[in-house]
Amino acid sequence: MTGEFFRFSDGDATMNTQRNATLTVDGKNIDLPVYSGSIGPEVIDIRQLYAKTGMFTFDPGFMSTAACKSAITYIDGDAGVLLYRGYPIEQLAQNCDFLEVAFLILKGELPNAREKEEFDTIIKRHTMVHEQLIRFYSGFRRDAHPMAVLVGVVGALSAFYHDAMDISDEYHRTVSAHRLIAKLPNIVAMAYKYGRGEPFMYPRNDLSYTANFMRMMFGNPCEDYVPNPVLVRALDRILILHADHEQNASTSTVRLAGSSGANPFACISAGIACLWGPAHGGANEACLQMLEEIGDVSRVGEYIKRAKDKNDSFKLMGFGHRVYKNFDPRAKLMRETCHEVLNELGLHDDRLFKLAVALEKIALEDEYFVSKKLYPNVDFYSGIVQRALGIPTQLFTGIFALARTVGWIAQWNEMISDPEQKIGRPRQLFTGAEQRNVPPLDKR
Ligand code: CMC
Repeated sequence: MTGEFFRFSDGDATMNTQRNATLTVDGKNIDLPVYSGSIGPEVIDIRQLYAKTGMFTFDPGFMSTAACKSAITYIDGDAGVLLYRGYPIEQLAQNCDFLEVAFLILKGELPNAREKEEFDTIIKRHTMVHEQLIRFYSGFRRDAHPMAVLVGVVGALSAFYHDAMDISDEYHRTVSAHRLIAKLPNIVAMAYKYGRGEPFMYPRNDLSYTANFMRMMFGNPCEDYVPNPVLVRALDRILILHADHEQNASTSTVRLAGSSGANPFACISAGIACLWGPAHGGANEACLQMLEEIGDVSRVGEYIKRAKDKNDSFKLMGFGHRVYKNFDPRAKLMRETCHEVLNELGLHDDRLFKLAVALEKIALEDEYFVSKKLYPNVDFYSGIVQRALGIPTQLFTGIFALARTVGWIAQWNEMISDPEQKIGRPRQLFTGAEQRNVPPLDKR
């Protein structure tokens, strides 16, 4: 193989407004088509690479691989831009509620007033879960992690909705999407209630999506729960900011699971399992635990030092992002919401918030974090907001899953509707033993 193996050069503009990239392998030129999207980097189509060279590409962690084409979410990590269907996250967070954003992500356009009312009504009419599903909860220990419960219960929905399980039928897919979006708040709230030994609360359809969720979480049958609009708005914003994030690990998991034809409930359950990890959705929980562990501003230096130490596995949770290398626009909005919520609750002197602000300031001035472009991500502040709202740390990732269900189901639907869709099947660079014979037991 020559040193020119990865030298691409642009070819002439060819058919269908495509250009070619020329890859030179062992002195032989191979032309590969280049496609442009509406915005963002172009891609080189390597689907013929194996046929033409007998080689695969090697890209663990998908650092340079576009695994699909998608029209849902666009991120420019260098500019700190996040667009859902073309609309900047800042405008959506300020002007829309979560269900409007869900409609946008699913259907491609913002709803008008009539469509909004219709969609709100459809979702409300699906909020209850089958009474038999309730029994699943008692199979879990009371101290089970809510994400363990969510993986199980959401997967179990597959056993309840045989009437809409034909994934090739667009109507069935739509019904499943509505069911998932409507039931997730109920399922998450039940996981919380179960852990506390409190009665489950049935949904109340005169409330908004988020107010209803808060009532199912914090209300009880003995007295009325009156949602505070500032806190409802804050949680709604958390949901908007987490609703989709293009081809992240859990979304790719949902797509991969779905590529085999698996049902949407099983796919979303797979997404929840992936989201649980501390490098992904589990970061908000891990971030709050980290702040508790640091405990005091005087110890920030010690932890920054640990985060920089190559021999220490400790990382500053809530810092860094695979795509955002300038700032995470969601973090900016979350910081703002954090102030609003702490003001509303009279918690301006909240110990962890002060600690978070100090940690952020020190890290942003530190050469290590600056040079590696490590900035606070959305989870740095979302944990503090959620804690102030009364949500227990263990449930943070569950709230993330509730919000991301919208993105997952939209991405799953986009994949299923794509006529070019194929089962996901990555290849590998094999580094194990070559073929050998099994020796008899006494010779091993
Ligand atoms: N603290 C200290 N060092 C870090 C951190 C951190 N939080 N994040 C990355 N680094 C270092 C890392 O050790 C590596 O150093 P070196 O070049 O010397 O090997 C360098 O920065 C590049 O990091 P990486 O891990 O190769 O970057 P990545 O793009 O693979 O990982 C990440 C991104 C989010 C997994 C990582 O930054 C991280 O683990 N952050 C903490 C967890 C976290 O907050 N995750 C939430 C992400 S946002 C929510 C979501 O979308 O799920």
